[in-house]
Amino acid sequence: MKINHAGIAAEAVRIAPARGIAGTLRLPGDKSISHRYAMLAAIAEGASRFENFSTGADCASTLACVEALGCAVQREGTRVSIQGLGPELRPPGRALDCGNSGSTMRMLAGILAGQHFESELIGDDSLSRRPMARIMAPLRQMGATIAAADRDRPPLRIRGATPLASIDYVTPVASAQVKSCVLFAALFASGTSTVEEPIRTRDHSELALRAFGAELHRSKARVSLAGGQRLHAIEGGIPGDISSAAYFLCAAALFADSMLVIDDLMLNPTRAQLLDLLTAMGARISVLRVEEHHGELSGSVQIEGGSLRGRQISGPLAAALIDELPVLAAIAPFVRDGIEIRDARELRVKESDRITAVAENLRRMGAAVEELEDGWRIPGEQQLHGGEIDSCGDHRIAMAFAIAALKARGETTIHGADAARISFPEFFDVLDRLAQR
Ligand code: S3P
Repeated sequence: MKINHAGIAAEAVRIAPARGIAGTLRLPGDKSISHRYAMLAAIAEGASRFENFSTGADCASTLACVEALGCAVQREGTRVSIQGLGPELRPPGRALDCGNSGSTMRMLAGILAGQHFESELIGDDSLSRRPMARIMAPLRQMGATIAAADRDRPPLRIRGATPLASIDYVTPVASAQVKSCVLFAALFASGTSTVEEPIRTRDHSELALRAFGAELHRSKARVSLAGGQRLHAIEGGIPGDISSAAYFLCAAALFADSMLVIDDLMLNPTRAQLLDLLTAMGARISVLRVEEHHGELSGSVQIEGGSLRGRQISGPLAAALIDELPVLAAIAPFVRDGIEIRDARELRVKESDRITAVAENLRRMGAAVEELEDGWRIPGEQQLHGGEIDSCGDHRIAMAFAIAALKARGETTIHGADAARISFPEFFDVLDRLAQR
C-alpha cells in the first residue's frame, strides 16, 4: 500500500481526527463552468482566455478533446487559452477520450451532433457504465445518428447532421448535462429549439451561452434558443468551485471553534443552496464582496461552526445539492437528529453508485445507516471510529470520508484517495493545512 498524500499518485491517505478547521482558502475554478467555457470557446470565433481554470482531470479531458477537434489550446497552470474555430470543428482522426467525465461526454455530444463528420467518444471503466440514453434520445430526434456499444453505454459513435432539426424537448430526468447537450446542439439546428426541465437545474450553460454572445429566452423551466447563432470569444476568471468548497464548508460547520474564509467562491443561486442549508442547520455564514462576471456571481464566504441540527433533504433541494449529498451524508451521524435524504436516485448512476458507497463506508466507521432506494436515513449523535474506506474510484466519496474522518475516534485510511484528482487534486494538501490538530 502506497501512503503519501504529498502527490496525486497516492493511493491511500491516512486522516487523523481534528479539533476544527481554520484559515483562508481560494479554490480552483468551478468544474461545471470550466467544461462549458472550454466547449463554447472551441466553437466561438477568436481566442478565449481563462484564469483559474479547473485543475481537475475531468476538465483536462475536455481540453484534450477540444484540442483533438482542431483547436489550439495553451495551458500554463490555471491559465488556459483556446483558439476557437467557429461552428465547424475538424474531424479528430482518433477516438475522443472523456476519461472519467460524464460532463465531457454528454455535453460535447451536443456539439458533435452538429458536425459534418463522425466521431467516437470513449471513457474509463466508470464512464463506460454510465447511461447515455438521456442524450441519445434528443440528439436522434434532432437528426444525428448515434450508436452505443452496449444498449446506451459508451463508447458512443456520433454521425452529425448539418443542419440538425430543431426540437421541443422535455427532459425526463432533472439533469443539467442533458439540458446543456440539447442547448449546445440547438446552436446547429435550423430553427428555434426549446428545452423544458421537470426541476430547474444549474444554469451555467444558459449564462455561458449569453456570455459568448448567443441570445436565448428563459421562462420558468423553459429555455429557447435559435439555431445558427455565431459565438464570439470571451476572457475572464472562473470563480472557485463550490462543490469542492462543500467539503471544507461541511467540515467547518461541524466544529464549534472553526473559522474559515473562502475567497472568490462561485455563488450562482442554482448551485449555492448548501450555504442556506448549513445556515438552517446552525452554522454562521456571511457573504461579502459579491461580484458578477459573465452572469456568474461570486464572493467571499466566512463560516463559523456550531452545534448542527439535521433535517430532511428531498425534492428540488436534493437535485440542487446532488454533488454535495455524499459529504452531507458523511457528516450526518455527527449532527443532532441526523439527516434523511430522499429523491436522490440519480446518485446510483454517478461515478459510482454513491448511495451504496456511502452506506457501506459509513458502516465501516461503525455508523448506523439505512440505505434507501433513493437516499439514506442516518440517525444523529453517533460516535464513529476510524475505518478502512473504499473510495470506489469516486472522487466525491474519497473527499466526503476524509471529512467524516476528522470527527471519528482514531485514524481513517482512504483507499483510492487519488480519485480526488478528478475534480480537486489539491484536496488532501488543503485539508492538511486547514485541519487544526
Ligand atoms: C453537472 C450536472 C450534474 C452533476 C455533475 C455536473 C453539470 O449531473 O452531478 O457533477 O456540470 O452540468 P447531471 O446533469 O447528470 O445531474
